[in-house]
Amino acid sequence: MIVAPSILSADFSRLYEETKDLYAYGAEWLHIDVMDGHFVPNITIGPVVVQSLKKHLKMVFDVHLMISDPRFFAKAFVDAGADIITFHYEATNDVLGMLSYLKSLGVKVGLSIKPHTPVVVLEPFLKELDVVLVMSVEPGFGGQSFMPLALDKIKYLAKQKQENHYPYLIEVDGGINEQTGQLCAQAQAEVLVAGTAIFKASNRQEVIGRLKQL
Ligand code: DX5
Ligand code: ZN
Repeated sequence: MIVAPSILSADFSRLYEETKDLYAYGAEWLHIDVMDGHFVPNITIGPVVVQSLKKHLKMVFDVHLMISDPRFFAKAFVDAGADIITFHYEATNDVLGMLSYLKSLGVKVGLSIKPHTPVVVLEPFLKELDVVLVMSVEPGFGGQSFMPLALDKIKYLAKQKQENHYPYLIEVDGGINEQTGQLCAQAQAEVLVAGTAIFKASNRQEVIGRLKQL
């Protein structure tokens, strides 16, 4: 299991201290939630923060764009050091155009759906993707409860992947802890995003270690 701590739950006044040991603890990816106050009712992180952290960390930077105009901002995040850019199906009328634009920027591509978007809408795009990000909470805030409807989506994506030999990784985001992470692992998720469960834990190394073993 790949573990991707979400810095949304970190102490933003000490972002470097909060992130510098995560890789040594076993977290290979760093999940960065970008919100624009329009696609979701919250505002978070821009490219300047990504660029600052990237200089110091060797993790895979997994940038989750919860913004209404992913095309306008994508290049700035790639230039800042994003390794993966994930945008929302609900944020564009031209998913294929956005995917080919991202590929032209030389970044890995992810596509995400909100909890109430049916997973089958992703079917035409699956063969193009490096990552499929299943939201298991309404995007916008950390600390919400896991929505079990994500599990059937993960299972569907795992079946499609197996039957068609698609290369994407199945990532799940929202309300992940050891219990819900276990359910996602059983459904064959491959990347677990966790904010609260890691950053609010008294021993982050232990939590990351246990999530990795799922
Ligand atoms: C929600 C974000 C998540 C969030 C997860 O909009 O996409 O990445 O930070 O936080 P937890 O793990 O606390 O649910
Ligand atoms: Zn996220």
